[in-house]
Amino acid sequence: MSRAKAEPMFCLGENTLPVSMSLFATNRKRLCNALRENESVPKGAVVVLQGGSEIGQDATDVDLVFRQESFFQWCFGVTEADCYGIIEVDTGKATLFMPKFSDEYIVWMGEIHSLGHFKAKYAVDDTKYTTDIAEALKEMKPSKLLTLSGLNTDSGKMTKEACFDGISSFVVENTTLHKEMSELRVIKTPQELDVMRYVNRVSSEAHKELMRRIRPGWLEYQAESVFKHHVYLHGGCRHVAYTCVGASGENSAVLHYGHAGAPKDEKIEDGDMCLFDMGGEYYCYASDITCSFPVNGKFTEDQKKIYEAVLKASLAVHKALRPGVSWVDMHKLADRIQLQELAKIGVIHGSVDEMMEAGLGYLFMPHGLGHLLGHDVHDVGGYSECSPERPKEIALKNLRTARVMQPGIVLTIEPGIYFNWATIERSFSNPQWARFLNRDVLQRFRHFGGVRIEDNVAITDDGIENLTCVPRTVSEIEAHMEEGRKRYENASDLGSLVPAKGT
Ligand code: GLY
Ligand code: MN
Ligand code: MN
Repeated sequence: MSRAKAEPMFCLGENTLPVSMSLFATNRKRLCNALRENESVPKGAVVVLQGGSEIGQDATDVDLVFRQESFFQWCFGVTEADCYGIIEVDTGKATLFMPKFSDEYIVWMGEIHSLGHFKAKYAVDDTKYTTDIAEALKEMKPSKLLTLSGLNTDSGKMTKEACFDGISSFVVENTTLHKEMSELRVIKTPQELDVMRYVNRVSSEAHKELMRRIRPGWLEYQAESVFKHHVYLHGGCRHVAYTCVGASGENSAVLHYGHAGAPKDEKIEDGDMCLFDMGGEYYCYASDITCSFPVNGKFTEDQKKIYEAVLKASLAVHKALRPGVSWVDMHKLADRIQLQELAKIGVIHGSVDEMMEAGLGYLFMPHGLGHLLGHDVHDVGGYSECSPERPKEIALKNLRTARVMQPGIVLTIEPGIYFNWATIERSFSNPQWARFLNRDVLQRFRHFGGVRIEDNVAITDDGIENLTCVPRTVSEIEAHMEEGRKRYENASDLGSLVPAKGT
């Protein structure tokens, strides 16, 4: 008998990672322990969480593919929409509340599963219908309901607090839970790390496959499609963790290129640098990997210099990162190395200390060095009451966290150098920065675009574990792409379904 049948598991077939429901039982246990230690939480408190709902496309009859709300997922791992979950803090007893469907559901959606089915599937203590939640809570006589209300410091959006008919007859407290859960989500358990290792492996392989197949003349979206196909077919990733960034030439200087207003519709010209920032999501665990390479598989001298400057910064951070280190210091380390290398290339000149003082790094790397990663690509907990505040300096203000590192944190390391020409032109009239810029040399990079190298790492007891495995040095990339050219000799011929003229 397969392992998947022996105990409650999430599994999408033999080629994908089975995830035991004990992962969520452990998370619930951690949460109860933290709440029991919190002096503001009285005996008899009950956590109440509301899961995500299906989201329809405007006024159409079409729903977007459902993806569970992240805090709810962290506690229960439930794939269905419109559920509630409660946890009795004193005992840890967990009850799921599932929607009740009419008989017509069978016609459109299929089998209506019993409450017993869900109890077994998610390995919880009890299951009831959502319509019975007020009654069930009344019977428990809770001292307080703890609901989730808090700000995502990356998106600026608030969580959706649990609400149901009859909640007004309970004492509700909505500040503690968000703080406690966010802190717990920052530190990944060994089981969570296994899932993150898996989704990184799948996504790394998909990046490698794209590097083998891509050819000059493709449109950017065709490259994106190779990645999405690969992570879904081989890894069970129905979702990607964020809108893929798939940029060539100058577009790669635009950090989140590939949104609806720039739908990756540019032809990739021979000689262009490409920047692909794409990550699969498996069972709501994200990966976030960026590979930068020349489409034709051979770096020019300038491409090599810029790429190696970014790689040098990346490797220095890999080496320095460990528990006790401040993420702000890691950003400064990467910034300093990139400025030193840009000075060697001749793009800028002057004292690197003065450049750092003036925040010049922001001109070439306007984003933070990286961010927490977990259920969300920009995971919760970046800034909280328990962590250092967001720095105000220009070169640091976009950091998504300023935390001091601890074992179990997973985050991205993603230095980059971008030649965003509109920004660079404006800087020529900014006396703070213009004094460092070599206008003539910069002109050479006007159409270069940008380079980002993004790995996902877990902080260990004495350093890091790199979860990402893709070719990184110039020679590794060139060899890998060369091998791809041999493997897919005719890959540039994608065929066409457009009817010939006159037919
Ligand atoms: N892919 C989004 C980011 O790198 O932060
Ligand atoms: Mn990314
Ligand atoms: Mn990232």
